[in-house]
Amino acid sequence: MIVAIDGPAGSGKTTVAKLVAQKLGFFYLDTGAIYRSLTLKLLKERVPLTDVSKMREIARSLRLEFKREKVFLEGKDITEDIRDPSVDRSVSLVAKIPEVREVLLPLQRELVKGKNAVVEGRDMGTVVFPNADLKIFLTASEEERARRRWKELSSKGKDISFMEVLEDLKRRDKIDSERDVAPLRKSPDAIEIDTTDMSINEVVEEVVRLALRHLKGAGVFSS
Ligand code: C5P
Repeated sequence: MIVAIDGPAGSGKTTVAKLVAQKLGFFYLDTGAIYRSLTLKLLKERVPLTDVSKMREIARSLRLEFKREKVFLEGKDITEDIRDPSVDRSVSLVAKIPEVREVLLPLQRELVKGKNAVVEGRDMGTVVFPNADLKIFLTASEEERARRRWKELSSKGKDISFMEVLEDLKRRDKIDSERDVAPLRKSPDAIEIDTTDMSINEVVEEVVRLALRHLKGAGVFSS
């Protein structure tokens, strides 16, 4: 079973998807982490984000592992590094390149092959897993999303103002929604949940309820 969760930056996808996966005992895949890891590597190697053939080459050789909610690039734990504001600023520019998405698409499917999984990103329900059993689209007001992201960064000691976070979020959403390939969009068969006034627990409970309802409908549970 695949539960696909999409939505704009700061809509709560990562927190919610992780907890839903824990509750259901499913594998969890954060596809944003894949784009972030590639971006981190490109920044470290000082590859200009206009050099498409070099970007594709690096995307092809990306050695990523997901273990116990941590991300490893070539054996190094980069879980914290990929959340740095420098990665925030560049990731959408990397993710909008069709050649990059083409390389990363089969990798995402391969990572969940044969597993029950909760997958989260921007194009899970529309492109990567169009046959997902349950599709969720999380939203929240811009201010609320920026507030959540700012709180997260501040708690990690990052020196960034609320306005900078808000501006970055708006810019990222714009690039993600307007790109030609796999733009951020709600799949017509996705269930939209506005999380602005909801607690994390409420959102998690709702998604778990929908997933269990689906499993019941599919005859997996008898009661
Ligand atoms: O989900 P997160 O905010 O970590 O994603 C970072 C960026 O990666 C997004 O802003 C988007 O540009 C890109 N992304 C994407 N497709 C996905 C997941 C993330 O383009 N499925």
